[in-house]
Amino acid sequence: MDEILIHKAADVLRRSRYAIAFTGAGISVESGIPPFRGENGIWSKYDPATLELDFFHRNPLESWKVIKELFYMYFGNAEPNTAHIALSRFEQKGLIKSIITQNIDDLHQKAGSRTVYEFHGNSKKLVCTKCGADYPPVYIDFDHLPPLCGACSGLIKPDFIFFGENIPFDAYQNSVEAAKKADVVIVIGSTGEVMPAAQMPFIAKQNGASIIEVNTETSKFTHSITDFYLEGKATEVMKQLYFAVYGE
Ligand code: APR
Ligand code: ZN
Repeated sequence: MDEILIHKAADVLRRSRYAIAFTGAGISVESGIPPFRGENGIWSKYDPATLELDFFHRNPLESWKVIKELFYMYFGNAEPNTAHIALSRFEQKGLIKSIITQNIDDLHQKAGSRTVYEFHGNSKKLVCTKCGADYPPVYIDFDHLPPLCGACSGLIKPDFIFFGENIPFDAYQNSVEAAKKADVVIVIGSTGEVMPAAQMPFIAKQNGASIIEVNTETSKFTHSITDFYLEGKATEVMKQLYFAVYGE
């Protein structure tokens, strides 16, 4: 890792007035959750069409088999890693004001981060598609899929956003507001390919923010808006960035 670049990025972060983080699947890879794209990516094993909203309603059992495998087998026992913990500590120190995440694995909250905008919802809650009743994952009997609502026998769906589904209004509003206020954005582990989520760092840049990017590979951000490209694994880079800012 380029020591000089880390220290330059740390200086900008230390002097920031309103720094935020924007995270993608890459920040959770070292917690054991595979990314969606790239080598061994989830979409190289499963057809993303199974997580399209109309497919889900037409083929609930097929969709639920993929949901079970992906989100409840993987996420169930994943723990936050050093990168999630670094962001939580930056927030405790008042340096990071909020996190906009595309992830639905709850690992930012598990790491102690408090202001987290979940652009694609969260896999920790399920909802009846008919009457709107909420269910915790423990309610689901994964041997009897698809799960049906106890109140109205409607089809139960995880509360994360399927392709073709609207972004949660509050998450969208809060994210755009944070992006407009930000003078520094730390972008961690995202290809920048999925809109409208990936628009957030671009909105910040348009409003004069400096972009610090942490990724093992270049992304749609790197050669367009990134000011400091810190190449490497999220856990290693975030540990070094935290040390460069606080010396601890
Ligand atoms: N450290 C940092 N970055 C990493 C690491 C790591 N250890 N491992 C992988 N990455 C990077 C990859 O280089 C890539 O840029 O993380 C990114 C993973 O790409 P995606 O899985 O496409 O993640 P993301 O861009 O967040 O996908 C956005 O796509 O399918 C939808 O809803 C899904 O939220 C997801 C969205
Ligand atoms: Zn119901």
